[in-house]
Parts: sequence; structure tokens; C-alpha cells
Amino acid sequence: MPEQHVVLRNREIPGLARLDVYVAHGGYAQLKRAVTEMQPAEVIDLVKASGLRGRGGAGFPTGLKWSFVPRDLYPKYIVVNNDESEPGTFKDHEITLENPHQVIEGAAIAAYAVGAETVFIYCRGEFWQEMDVLRAAVAEARAAGHIGPNLHGSGYGVEVQVSPGAGAYICGEETALLSSLEGELGQPRLKPPFPAVAGLYAKPTVVNNTETLANVPAILEHGADWFKSIGTEKSPGTKICCVSGHVERPGNYEIPLGTSWDELLAMAGGVWKGRRLKAVLPAGASAPVLAAEQMPGLALDWESVAATGSILGSASFIVMDETVNMAWVAKKTIAFFKHESCGKCSPCREGTWWLKHLTARIAAGEAGPDDVALVTQVVDQMEGKCFCPLGEFAQSVPRSTIERFAADYAERSAAPAPAAAD
Ligand SMILES: Cc1cc2nc3c(=O)[nH]c(=O)nc-3n(C[C@H](O)[C@H](O)[C@H](O)COP(=O)(O)O)c2cc1C
Repeated sequence: MPEQHVVLRNREIPGLARLDVYVAHGGYAQLKRAVTEMQPAEVIDLVKASGLRGRGGAGFPTGLKWSFVPRDLYPKYIVVNNDESEPGTFKDHEITLENPHQVIEGAAIAAYAVGAETVFIYCRGEFWQEMDVLRAAVAEARAAGHIGPNLHGSGYGVEVQVSPGAGAYICGEETALLSSLEGELGQPRLKPPFPAVAGLYAKPTVVNNTETLANVPAILEHGADWFKSIGTEKSPGTKICCVSGHVERPGNYEIPLGTSWDELLAMAGGVWKGRRLKAVLPAGASAPVLAAEQMPGLALDWESVAATGSILGSASFIVMDETVNMAWVAKKTIAFFKHESCGKCSPCREGTWWLKHLTARIAAGEAGPDDVALVTQVVDQMEGKCFCPLGEFAQSVPRSTIERFAADYAERSAAPAPAAAD
């Protein structure tokens, strides 16, 4: 199966970031059609019928999320989650730089659908260039009347604001993002209430990922059946997969969901230097590692990857060849999570501290005889006990590498190798 570019149309259309090029290729026609010819509920029903699921990690049905927004509470907000801080994840970066208007149009359609008149695009703190591109695109679109007040005489108007993030991984978590956008410390909030009911400034708010919203104009243009004809029944559409690590051609590949791992790896040129595959992290640093034996024939959709005991998440595949020691990988990922833990809850704050020191000792070959068992004890104290998923993400690589690559730990540590899981 080849790549299919619904979001990364910029690969075929040079200059798509420019308003004139975007408009020449049908840009902003769907927003115009929505506000002049469709009722908001019709837009929600169409997106529901398409089966579009969130591309930010959890795969939650987008139309359903929009339908949770109360109709009679004002103001309401759309927030574009452009925080993209997951290791090995660089798709929203390309979308934003090369196809920004498709994100703005998708977000404005979402705003019309739920009755919001303000869109915030919350950008990763380091995305200076992306923010410049987005601000220029917003200004161009507003000057041309594609966004702004009283769109096409419909009486409906929408304003779009580009906001810098706080430069912290936790600010990608939707409730921490909202606190950060309000100028507070970026720490997660208790759910419920969910943002759709009480989000930004305690008002109804839809938070959607950049890639999710960039799919929306195409769904309006081609219809729900077209969207469902791509991908699988439960995971329709395309997904941009970020492939990094030990491959010949790292990069973004937009594939129909359900495409096999083998095809994706072939697109990326295979494992580099003619070496053998050892393992793959399928969702950046945030999911259990998959061993090479689990990969052949694996369909890349939410259900199939979940069936392996891991997750598809944001589809950020970090590929590791036979030379990589998995105890070292655990050390690297946990160093990231220790740095990024927001400190709000003790299992994550303390757990990542202990895991950082233990995995560093093990990876350096300086472990005591009980250190690997101690890692397992610590992850047991984290799993299911953290306030937000960051802590859950943090423990997944140490746990899964101990279970699946016991020999790598034995090689680095004085501890007896723990029994490998089936
Ligand atoms: C620690 C953490 C970091 C996250 N980072 C991001 C991110 O950078 N971008 C994103 O879209 N979603 C991220 N999410 C998921 C969001 O909380 C939320 O589910 C998503 O933005 C919803 O959009 P979607 O339904 O379109 O996927 C993160 C979640 C967690 C727990």
C-alpha cells in the first residue's frame, strides 16, 4: 500500500503554505460551505459518521467529543494542541510549517460546529518558526475574509489566536495545556469535569490535535464514506507515522491506517546499515517496547497495536537495531520523564527520580544485585497510581524492557536475569 496524503498534501502541492496556493486547491471552501449551507449539528454528524479519531494519542472519536459540548453555555473555545513534545514525534511540525491553512480551516470548522468563536493554537514553546508561519497564515486568512467576523454574511465569526507554550512536555496533556494557556503553572487537572464541559476559563472547550483538525476540511469536501473507505473499519483515514532511529530514511509517512509495519519500514528504507531489527518503540517514549518478533505483519491501527500490549499513540516509531541494549533505552526514556514530571503527584515525582538513578546505575554496569528487582518494585508503585498518564507512560519502557529483554539487563547488571515474560 503506498502513502496517501490527505494532510501532507504539501508533498504534492508546492507552496501550499501560501494562501493563494491553498485557495487555488479548494482551501477555505469547506469553511464557507459549513457556515453558509450547513447547520452546526450537521457538521458534527458528518464528522461522527466519518469515524475520525483523535490523532494526538488516545484515538478518541472526534465527532463524539464535539457532541459533548453543551449548546447553551457561552463562550466556548477550540484549542489546537500543537504542543508536540513526545520524543520521536515531528508530524505537527511539518503540518504547521507546510500546510498551516488546513489546520486553521479545520479548527474554524470545529469552532462553527460547537458554537465557539475563538480558536487558540497552543504551540510547543520551542516552535518559534512554526508560530511565525501560523501567525502569518492567520493574518493572511483574516485579511482575505476567510476568518474573522460575519463570515460570508452568515452572522457567524471566528477569531484565531496563536499562543506560545511553556516548553514543557506535560503541557501537551490537555488539562495542563489549558492551565498553561490561562497563565497558570502547567499541571494536569482532575477529570471530570472534562474540558468539553469545563475547560479554558471553566468554559466548554474542545482540545484537538493539529493532525486531527487538518483532516476535517477533507472530510467535509469528500464526505464520510470517502474517509471510511481509507484505513480500517474502526480506525478510518490516514495516519502520519513519524519514523526515526535506525532506518535508512527517517521521516514522516502518511499511510492508510491498517497498513502493515513491513510496508512502513520499507518506505523508510529498512533497518540501516543492513543490520537486524531488535525492537521498536511505537509511540515515542510513552509505550511498551515491541520486540522484533512482534512486528512482521503487524497492522498499524489502534486495535491491532493494542492487541500486542502496546499502543499506537501518536504513531511515532523509534526503530532500534541489534546493537542497542534495552537497559540503556530504559535509562534514556526515564531521564526524559524524570525531567518532565511536573511534580504534582508523588508516584510520578518520586518514581521517576528512583527509576532515573536505578536505570542509570544499571546501564553503566554499576548495579547492585537487587537493582533490577527494585526497578520492578518502583514501576509497580507507579502503574495505575499516578494522577495523569505521564507517570504511566514513564514506567512503560522500564517495565516492558525488563519483561522482554531480560538478557540485556543481565548483561549490564550484577543481578541475576529476571525471567522473561511469555
Ligand atoms: C503527558 C501527555 C502529553 C501529551 N502531549 C500531547 C501533544 O503534544 N499533542 C497532542 O495533540 N496531544 C497530546 N496529549 C494528548 C492530549 O491530552 C489530548 O488527548 C489530545 O490533545 C486530544 O486531541 P485529539 O482527540 O485530537 O487526539 C498528551 C497527553 C499526555 C498525557
